[in-house]
Amino acid sequence: MKACRCGLEKNVISLFHFFFLFAVCTGTENKLSTLSDLDQQYRTLRKYYENCEVVMGNLEITSIDRSRDLSFLRSIREVTGYVLVALNQFEYLPLENLRIIRGTRLYEDRYALAIFLNYRRDGNFGLRQLGLKNLTEILNGGVYVDQNKFLCHADSIHWQDIMKNKMHISLILSLISGSFSVTKTVCAEQCDGRCFGPYVSDCCHRECAGGCSGPKDTDCFACTNFNDSGACVTQCPQPFVYNPTTFQLEHNPRAKYTYGAFCVKKCPHNFVVDHSSCVRACPSNKMEVEENRIKMCIPCTDICPKACDGIGTASLQTAQTVDSSNIDRFINCTKINGNLHVILCFPGFLNIQSWPENMTDLSVFSNLATIGGRSLYSGISLLVLKQQWISSLKLQSLGEISAGNVYVTNNSQLCYYNTVNWTRLFRTSTQKALIRNNRDPKECILDRMICDPLCSDAGCWGPGPDQCFSCRFFSRGRTCVESCNLHEGDVREFANGSVCLECDAQCEVVDDDGLTCTGPGPDHCVKCLHFKDGPNCVEKCPDGLQGANSFIFKYAEANNECHPCHVNCTQGYERIC
Ligand SMILES: *[C@@H]1O[C@H](CO)[C@@H](O)[C@H](O)[C@H]1NC(C)=O
Ligand SMILES: *[C@@H]1O[C@H](CO)[C@@H](O)[C@H](O)[C@H]1NC(C)=O
Ligand SMILES: *[C@@H]1O[C@H](CO)[C@@H](O)[C@H](O)[C@H]1NC(C)=O
Ligand SMILES: *[C@@H]1O[C@H](CO)[C@@H](O)[C@H](O)[C@H]1NC(C)=O
Ligand SMILES: *[C@@H]1O[C@H](CO)[C@@H](O)[C@H](O)[C@H]1NC(C)=O
Ligand SMILES: *[C@@H]1O[C@H](CO)[C@@H](O)[C@H](O)[C@H]1NC(C)=O
Ligand SMILES: *[C@@H]1O[C@H](CO)[C@@H](O)[C@H](O)[C@H]1NC(C)=O
Ligand SMILES: *[C@@H]1O[C@H](CO)[C@@H](O)[C@H](O)[C@H]1NC(C)=O
Repeated sequence: MKACRCGLEKNVISLFHFFFLFAVCTGTENKLSTLSDLDQQYRTLRKYYENCEVVMGNLEITSIDRSRDLSFLRSIREVTGYVLVALNQFEYLPLENLRIIRGTRLYEDRYALAIFLNYRRDGNFGLRQLGLKNLTEILNGGVYVDQNKFLCHADSIHWQDIMKNKMHISLILSLISGSFSVTKTVCAEQCDGRCFGPYVSDCCHRECAGGCSGPKDTDCFACTNFNDSGACVTQCPQPFVYNPTTFQLEHNPRAKYTYGAFCVKKCPHNFVVDHSSCVRACPSNKMEVEENRIKMCIPCTDICPKACDGIGTASLQTAQTVDSSNIDRFINCTKINGNLHVILCFPGFLNIQSWPENMTDLSVFSNLATIGGRSLYSGISLLVLKQQWISSLKLQSLGEISAGNVYVTNNSQLCYYNTVNWTRLFRTSTQKALIRNNRDPKECILDRMICDPLCSDAGCWGPGPDQCFSCRFFSRGRTCVESCNLHEGDVREFANGSVCLECDAQCEVVDDDGLTCTGPGPDHCVKCLHFKDGPNCVEKCPDGLQGANSFIFKYAEANNECHPCHVNCTQGYERIC
């Protein structure tokens, strides 16, 4: 038994109740690692699952000794991940109300249910009976039951009936069957496995999992996909519905978000909305914003904002300079709350510091837009001193130094610095820039270390068209270009002032001298790549899109324009027009 375990202690125990009073708890992912103290192990398990009905994650019951009260496990009805029962010594597993294991995560990438080594090596006791009386569905993954010395007669459990995916059933040994109420074996063939009686008319609704008490989507014991206020549905009400008169997707006031296998009107506390799901954190290409008091993830334009501690603040309180020991902390930062000091040596009161020798510029800070300069070190917020390797600053995104002075001195190879208008970056009139004893600009010119011709006369941070303060002609993202790709190039563009922007992917590329689009979005194409629905170019005509009250079906005419199907054609979700 290992003493170390990851995740459990630092995971705050969270058992939250929704407005519909459904107790949900987060599971664990400790696998077989357990606490060395068995009392603590039991108390933690109990704290985690007492009163929990739905485990959003894995249910792991490991290293529980013989005479513990496990009756609290009776509350659990559903597990979204896997169930692991291992290295225990108790006789009976009271998961009597567990109806469905979804297997969205699998133990050892294979098993939705793993029960093994549940006996005491030097004793005469261990797991004798599985209380899985209500388990009727495993949606994904296999079952592994092995090395449970005191568990007998496994064969009579109909694992095949319980499991949706019948691929893996491994080594089922020595099991005692509980009194299983397996629904499938008595069903009519047409029922696809789930029914509430033997006749064809007794099939469960196709969205049911684990059986049902009647034919409706509200009669299911559990849902295969989502539970929308008691009804089992394929998808939750979507955030957008199609408006057939404007040809556009519009905000749906009745939208719900998916949270595990539930549709919820509001994501739980500490969750954010990503498209139509509740998630713990935004994916890396999105950032969290709050709109109408709803926290949601929106795609970042260019790079996602990331605020970092500067030298002398918070986690870098004791650091005195940026050097090879802490440079990784600054990767992808767009804002530094504090100062930036790059110093080789500062005789008298700083130790000799090391800037990686092969770094000839400060491009690790290429996303840095703001230096806050809140905790000023000798009044200096940007200090680049005695860097004999650095030939350009390459701070291409830097647009503001909120407070403090700038010292760029004694960097023997540094060029381009003389083109920078520091005053433009300052926010107060008292800020100063001391720039001296760097490389002589005349020498820089002789070495062709000058701003790119695509830069305007405003200057640059370094070589290349992506280091300009502004562009002479046009810009594409961060780079200056001579012209936009109006008539050539793989991705055609339009020009908004002096900014080149991409045409929508649904526009057809026009090959003669014409434009591909006149503006942004699928409604500014000159010609459509596929079909046209109202003013918009679309990949396909609406084919069962959710509308406000119905599903919308359209067909394409010879000119590739979409037209609505007659309502009589679209009954039963089938388009025959
Ligand atoms: C199992 O499911 C049945 C049918 O829904 C229910 O009546 C019963 O209370 C559940 N629990 C146990 C322990 O059998
Ligand atoms: C759906 O969720 C409700 C709580 O909102 C619960 O009472 C009901 O039993 C659930 N239905 C199914 C089929 O899981
Ligand atoms: C920096 O951003 C890139 C691109 O978004 C990402 O792939 C990378 O993992 C990030 N690095 C760190 C240390 O955050
Ligand atoms: C700089 O040197 C370090 C180690 O010497 C190496 O890991 C790194 O890849 C080098 N970086 C560049 C840009 O050459
Ligand atoms: C910077 O360079 C000048 C001239 O070479 C020299 O006099 C001065 O001592 C240097 N300053 C530092 C801090 O090294
Ligand atoms: C630098 O920018 C400031 C503020 O935008 C401006 O007033 C000043 O004329 C500029 N200096 C030079 C040398 O262009
Ligand atoms: C075009 O530029 C204007 C002014 O800079 C800006 O307000 C507008 O949002 C831009 N349009 C697009 C489609 O980016
Ligand atoms: C559409 O169906 C209704 C009712 O079945 C029928 O009365 C009507 O004639 C149908 N219309 C067309 C155009 O087929």
